[in-house]
Amino acid sequence: MEMKLHSCFSVLIVLSLCLSVSAQSCRSYNGFANTQVFAACVDHPVLNSFLHWTYIESNNTLRIAFRRPSTTTNQWVAWGINPQGLAMFGTQALVAHQNSTGGTHAYTSSLNPPGPTLQQSDLRYGVSELSAIYVNSEMTLFATITLPAGMTTINQVWQEGPMAGGAPIAHALTNDNRASRNTLDLLTGSSTAAVDSVLKRRNTHGVLNAVSWGTLMPMGAIFARYLKVFKGADPAWFYLHVACQSSAYAVGVAGWATGIKLGSDSVAVQYNTHRNIGITLFVFGTLQVFALLLRPNKDHKYRIYWNIYHHSIGYSVIALSIANVFEGLSILSPDDKWKRAYTGIIIFLGAVAVVLEVITWAIVIKRKRSNSDKFPHNINGVNGTNGHANRV
Ligand code: HEM
Ligand SMILES: *[C@@H]1O[C@H](CO)[C@@H](O)[C@H](O)[C@H]1NC(C)=O
Ligand SMILES: *[C@@H]1O[C@H](CO)[C@@H](O)[C@H](O)[C@H]1NC(C)=O
Repeated sequence: MEMKLHSCFSVLIVLSLCLSVSAQSCRSYNGFANTQVFAACVDHPVLNSFLHWTYIESNNTLRIAFRRPSTTTNQWVAWGINPQGLAMFGTQALVAHQNSTGGTHAYTSSLNPPGPTLQQSDLRYGVSELSAIYVNSEMTLFATITLPAGMTTINQVWQEGPMAGGAPIAHALTNDNRASRNTLDLLTGSSTAAVDSVLKRRNTHGVLNAVSWGTLMPMGAIFARYLKVFKGADPAWFYLHVACQSSAYAVGVAGWATGIKLGSDSVAVQYNTHRNIGITLFVFGTLQVFALLLRPNKDHKYRIYWNIYHHSIGYSVIALSIANVFEGLSILSPDDKWKRAYTGIIIFLGAVAVVLEVITWAIVIKRKRSNSDKFPHNINGVNGTNGHANRV
């Protein structure tokens, strides 16, 4: 048994070694069509691309080759240095794509706000021997760049995107397209990834809102609707409901504020549906909190209208919350497990609600049979009663 296990593992190790050798790595590459040789290389962590370079310290000259296998004839690739920071704007970029006659076009473009157009423009560095080759679906950009003296660590930014009518147009904005930047030490070849503060803030925003609006709010509604039918649960259900809803609201306001900040920081992309649902939600949720203060007395003749109002806004908030969490998940597109986890929570809460609905009806009908005039049968509490003393 022991032996078998061991040999199993050895086979696995050998297999994984073979696999990692056959997977693309810049070190195993020696196929530059123009037989150039470079001193160093790195595998880029995203967008399936590689940088090869030689840096000559004596005259600050950087010779690079940026390679991207599996580039289609209808795609552009770009690589650049950003002296301002680890972001797109400010990047001194080299761009390459196929031209209309099947050759390649390589040029420089400085990526400036309000939005890069990828039109040709001069860079702040001297660039010479700029060219590109396209072989076996692999696009390779070559250039020689004169860097400022002493600049041995660079912010590098790379990207790929589609062409339309022979011209490059905006790239996608997936997490990979946003993560395509890091600092590279030209002397050691070590690279440090960007700390993606936007991604972190988006995750925080997602967690705060999924927990508050997306989970606690529906839970609090379940407490209100189903606990109040049990005699022993009055007034506990009311306090549970208020506690659940107000803590959900407090966390929800924080989540909402992070969303507004993310929205105002992202000048270029707008997620209108997500944003509009979020604002509506916040307005409804706030109305709901203030409506508590204006709640007419239990026996007041307007109480029925207040109840109708409170229930309809309440259910709308819950429906919109759940919809907006899914909307947000599709924007953030995290690992599938997060979407599955949230779907699981919603299915669970839904199932609990269905079971409790059945139990509630059974209890109400039973009560009605045993004492029909004392316990009217409305379980929505719209009449301010549901077979039992009703506080809200
Ligand atoms: C037609 C040209 C381009 C358009 C319209 C465009 C548009 C955009 C937009 C809208 C964003 C999101 C900004 C935000 O979240 O506020 C972005 C991010 C980004 N772009 Fe571009 N882009 C273009 C070309 C390029 C090129 C040539 C590169 C690389 C050389 C690049 C690299 C990046 C990177 C790394 C990010 C994520 C980091 C950041 O937001 O600064 N883009 N781009
Ligand atoms: C930099 O120095 C190298 C090696 O001495 C030389 O081959 C290259 O032409 C120089 N480049 C420039 C731009 O002066
Ligand atoms: C396309 O690129 C090739 C090679 O770079 C060049 O010879 C040709 O003139 C270009 N064609 C056009 C239409 O720009």
